[in-house]
Amino acid sequence: MSELETRIGRWFDHIAEMTPANLEARRDVELVITKLDDGQLRVAEIGDQGEVVVHEWVRQAILLLFRLHGLERSEAGPFEYLDKLQLKRDYERRGVRVVPGASARRGSFLSPGVILMPSYVNIGAWVGPDSMVDTWATVGSCAQIGANVHLAGGVGIGGVLEPANAVPVVIEDDAFIGSRCMIVEGARVGRGSILGAGTILNPSIPVIDAATGEEVSRGYVPDYCVAVSASRRREFAGGEFFLPCVLIIRRMSEGERHDKVALNALLREHGVAT
Ligand SMILES: CC(C)(COP(=O)(O)OP(=O)(O)OC[C@H]1O[C@@H](n2cnc3c(N)ncnc32)[C@H](O)[C@@H]1OP(=O)(O)O)[C@@H](O)C(=O)NCCC(=O)NCCS
Repeated sequence: MSELETRIGRWFDHIAEMTPANLEARRDVELVITKLDDGQLRVAEIGDQGEVVVHEWVRQAILLLFRLHGLERSEAGPFEYLDKLQLKRDYERRGVRVVPGASARRGSFLSPGVILMPSYVNIGAWVGPDSMVDTWATVGSCAQIGANVHLAGGVGIGGVLEPANAVPVVIEDDAFIGSRCMIVEGARVGRGSILGAGTILNPSIPVIDAATGEEVSRGYVPDYCVAVSASRRREFAGGEFFLPCVLIIRRMSEGERHDKVALNALLREHGVAT
């Protein structure tokens, strides 16, 4: 455990008493946020056994940040804002393309090659190299998005700051998340998988393999699957209803890319204005 981690733990034990006047705590928390912003720290990552490892103390630093900052007014042209947290800056150095209307909070990390269409990335989120966050997509706090992922228009990736030990949403490398999907509360999409437009995935939603009828998981789409939103019959005292599920309609081979979701290379080209 680093000294910084120990100190954050101590401040967090007294979070209810924290105010912007606590300069020592502010200095420690700022250091964590700067490291998050530069990708030197992450809230969560995938461990050696494929498990999601959450660095709880880093998330505690984010929670402290809200206590340690008062509201500040800022302006951009005719727009006025009032917030506690700052926005991310310095995109050219980071090699990130940001279309007007997009915003990312300081303390999120955007890898080189990321493209933000008019979208939102919250604090603690991590977005891997060459990923595209399309129009009106939102990447919630602490969500972990892999490399070369496409979050299509209007996708909602849920954030988790609380409760303690909650696992963030993880989207692994090369995944494609179709328009208006909602992926929340620690749900996970495996490497190279494709979620059809409008799919809802959370840890209570069964993921069923159409080839076998078997429920393979709840809230986790394994690697290299094509999965869509479907419904399953369910008996209640009041009658028969249909609840949503996610149906794997095809298993792809490792490394396979689905033709339908290939993004025009021109749109990903960094120096090109599209
Ligand atoms: C998931 C997807 C890739 C499947 O494409 P595909 O492998 O070619 O599969 P098909 O189109 O043959 O569809 C297979 C079955 O799934 C159903 N299906 C397809 N997409 C679906 C969706 N989003 N939700 C529910 N069912 C869907 C089809 O009706 C079809 O049923 P059928 O076998 O009875 O005819 C595609 O439908 C999709 O949703 N693409 C994402 C589009 C998008 O979001 N673009 C981003 C723009 S920013």
